[in-house]
Amino acid sequence: VPSPTAEPAAPQRLFGAAVRPDQLTDETPLLAAIRGCGLLVPEYHGQWSAVEWRRGDPWYGNYDAILDFAEKHGQQVRGHSLIWEQMTPDWAREEMTSGKDWKTIERHFATLLPRYSGRIREWIVVNEMIDTEHGDHGFRRTSFQRAYGNDYVRRALETARVLDPQAKLMINDYSLLYDNPVDEARRNKMLRLVESIKASGTPLDMVGIQGHLELRKGRISQPKAARFMTDLAGMGVEVAITELDVLEDDLRRPIGERDRLVADAAQDLLDVVADQKAVGSVVTWGLSDKQSWLQDRLDATKAAQACTPVDCGRMNRGLPFDGEMRPKPMHAALQRTL
Ligand code: XIL
Repeated sequence: VPSPTAEPAAPQRLFGAAVRPDQLTDETPLLAAIRGCGLLVPEYHGQWSAVEWRRGDPWYGNYDAILDFAEKHGQQVRGHSLIWEQMTPDWAREEMTSGKDWKTIERHFATLLPRYSGRIREWIVVNEMIDTEHGDHGFRRTSFQRAYGNDYVRRALETARVLDPQAKLMINDYSLLYDNPVDEARRNKMLRLVESIKASGTPLDMVGIQGHLELRKGRISQPKAARFMTDLAGMGVEVAITELDVLEDDLRRPIGERDRLVADAAQDLLDVVADQKAVGSVVTWGLSDKQSWLQDRLDATKAAQACTPVDCGRMNRGLPFDGEMRPKPMHAALQRTL
């Protein structure tokens, strides 16, 4: 776990963070913390629409920048991600919908996997495929699902393995940790999916649990989260916490209390992780509150609260470092565990 000045440690589990290429250029306290990570994940610059926004004209600048930096500092990079509905270019959506031709996927995978083979050693092949509320047999209705059917997840893994036989292949999803009917159904769906992938002999090496915690959802269920991870491990996959952060629910509390609640939420998950040999890495979704995507997600929360203008200006404090890169109790929780 990085402190603003520390050298990379050699922890039991890899600690990583989502980064943006523009954070890797200037010597800032944030950069020092990024250097302390063992694993870097492009926050959104690695997505299909960020690489190939014009068909057939991929731009590799972002992956190259992150890889050059990581390799200079002995860090690993995780590809994020090959398939994710939210950041799929419009031209690809249209092409899939009209042609329903798997070549669209093959071409996309071929622009990235062979180029980075041996350098990007693990890939999130499909991100956010589960929807047990509105989906089709638990599969989110996306352009991929509509064009190729629910089997697209399995086919994507097969295609990725062919294009880079060395890379670890991963699927990744959210809302898998709490004790409520939705999370429960989602855990079951993930387990059934992994089971069927494995039964068909399709390659799958890792399952990512995003870990976007939300205080309004209460505490996670440690027994259910532990059971879920044990079940996954039993199916022969490595488990990763891929996008840890904590969405607050009330910015009007004193800062000390807020930071303690955030740290406790993270600690709940980290305690589970500590007992699970199958969990090889924990990635936080950024390092500093100032750059956190939660600032955008928070707007809805702020609007729902009758807060004063001063309160409304406050940031969510769901990452290990505050906006000034001061470590918070969540940072200590990570350091204790990893
Ligand atoms: C988010 C980024 O943090 C934002 O900056 C971007 O605008 C949208 O995506 N699940 C994921 C991540 O897998 O890629 C998302 O990241 C957060 C939800």
